[in-house]
Amino acid sequence: MGVFVDLLLVFILVTVGIISSATAAKVRHLKWEVEYMHWSPDGQEGVVIAINGQFPGPTIRARAGDTLHLQLTNKLHTEGVVIHWHGIRQIGTPWADGTASISQCAINPGETFLYRFKVDRAGTYFYHGHYGMQRSAGLYGSLIVDVAEGEKEKFEYDGEFNILLSDWWHKGSHEQEVDLSSKPMRWIGEPQSLLVNGRGQFNCSMAAHFSNSSAVQCKLRGSEQYAPYILKVHPNKTYRLRIASSTALASLNLAIGNHKMRVVEADGNYVKPFTVDNIDIYSGDSYSVLFRTDQSSSQNYWLSATVRGREPHTPPAFAILNYLPTSASILPISPPPPSPRWDDYAYSKAFSNKIRALPGSPKPPQTHNRRIVLLNTQTYINGYTKWSINNVSLSLPSTPYLGSIKYGVGNAFDARSPPDRGPPGYDVMRPAPNPNSTYGSGVYMLKFNSTVDVILQNANALKENVSEIHPWHLHGHDFWVVGYGEGEFRERDAARFNLRDPPFRNTAVIYPYGWTAVRFVADNPGVWAFHCHIEPHLHLGMGVVFAEGVDLVQGLPNAAIACGLTGEMLIKNGTH
Ligand code: C2O
Ligand code: CU
Repeated sequence: MGVFVDLLLVFILVTVGIISSATAAKVRHLKWEVEYMHWSPDGQEGVVIAINGQFPGPTIRARAGDTLHLQLTNKLHTEGVVIHWHGIRQIGTPWADGTASISQCAINPGETFLYRFKVDRAGTYFYHGHYGMQRSAGLYGSLIVDVAEGEKEKFEYDGEFNILLSDWWHKGSHEQEVDLSSKPMRWIGEPQSLLVNGRGQFNCSMAAHFSNSSAVQCKLRGSEQYAPYILKVHPNKTYRLRIASSTALASLNLAIGNHKMRVVEADGNYVKPFTVDNIDIYSGDSYSVLFRTDQSSSQNYWLSATVRGREPHTPPAFAILNYLPTSASILPISPPPPSPRWDDYAYSKAFSNKIRALPGSPKPPQTHNRRIVLLNTQTYINGYTKWSINNVSLSLPSTPYLGSIKYGVGNAFDARSPPDRGPPGYDVMRPAPNPNSTYGSGVYMLKFNSTVDVILQNANALKENVSEIHPWHLHGHDFWVVGYGEGEFRERDAARFNLRDPPFRNTAVIYPYGWTAVRFVADNPGVWAFHCHIEPHLHLGMGVVFAEGVDLVQGLPNAAIACGLTGEMLIKNGTH
């Protein structure tokens, strides 16, 4: 009998093995070392966080269904590190989400941590540091997931390019962190440069003779660390351009001179295609656009990115669309593409409204179980400038939530959940009469499989007549962006929610003095950050934490919880 059962087991294992190899999903093994190095992202030397000696980090390329098996060694010497896989939902592997204090303990200098997770859906993603301000220090790279073998995209193209946008300061991330945490706060200011695939030009502009600025014309050989990225194209073809923004602060607008773009993907989901001259892209967003090389092939064209939503003190970033056989060293003769005025919010809202799900995409549940309104305010705590949500400024605990909730470790974070509403009668159009708030580490406990609406409510900041853009990003899920509105959200506004074709995304922006409504199903066991993707804002407390179905989490590796109170627990249990 026993032998028979064993044979049966072997049979099952073999069969399962055959089935899974038939789908050709692979385990992709990667070994990374994270290390500081000298680099000149924009012509001025500074230090960046590099991966295997590369800045930006290596592009990960996988197919839907593959498992990444990534051994990450921290060679930073002075600080911990974690990496978040932005847009990957980590279904069944919440401990691999790479958020310090939330999903795992920071990886100590010299230690190696194994990230093992499935990339279950094709799309354009990226990864970045999620500890301190390591994203500002340059810890990021692209993560591209192609459709599974034998499957096809819902659109056709002849070739593709990948662009990761970021912003760069000459002041190091540690000093920026101290500035932000000082009393009074010292604001980091606008970035010195915008980077395309880690390349920008600070001291000069390639397009200098088109602007009335005093910038000198760059004399680049092409081999410099800050030489522009070049997209080599053949005439009369269709190209897919993948774009993601990992900026610490800047909201951007991207255009290709003389070329239209057809938007087909947003945050790893298909959208109903629409054609535009340029696209807005906020930190945390990713898109795919198609463009046709239908212009004269005897010249080259600019691809440019400019700042939106903040009075720009940063020159645009350029890349060059190089029509073969024209030489890449011939600069475009036409001026860089025009970009909308930085404060033309109507323009940005019109763009946001064009983004709709491709027919046949997953539809949102028509009703919700819980509605949480998150009031975003800039506040003070004992004279320190902070961002607060419903008057609570997120202060992350030293023991990561995932372990402390899973194992019921007491006193690891505030037992009281933060409120579902801001203070009653709050006037979002004016600076608060009493702008003081408190620190908190409480968690929004969501009922497993429930449908949750979150209304992100913007407000006036500390200064009169200032309200900023905040792109909010949710870990572990996509949400449907069901509505935008002006002023204060009222319950009756919910009647106008778009439940027919809302885009399914992981990042949604709130406009000055407005609100944005998202809906999602809390169906992924784990603990998940939901925060403004502007790094200094997150650092100043602009985020919340959601938890759902944590009792269902399996296979939490000890390495993810070997710190703080869960670390003590492991020692007591003799498992560490
Ligand atoms: Cu890309 Cu929590 O962020
Ligand atoms: Cu923000």
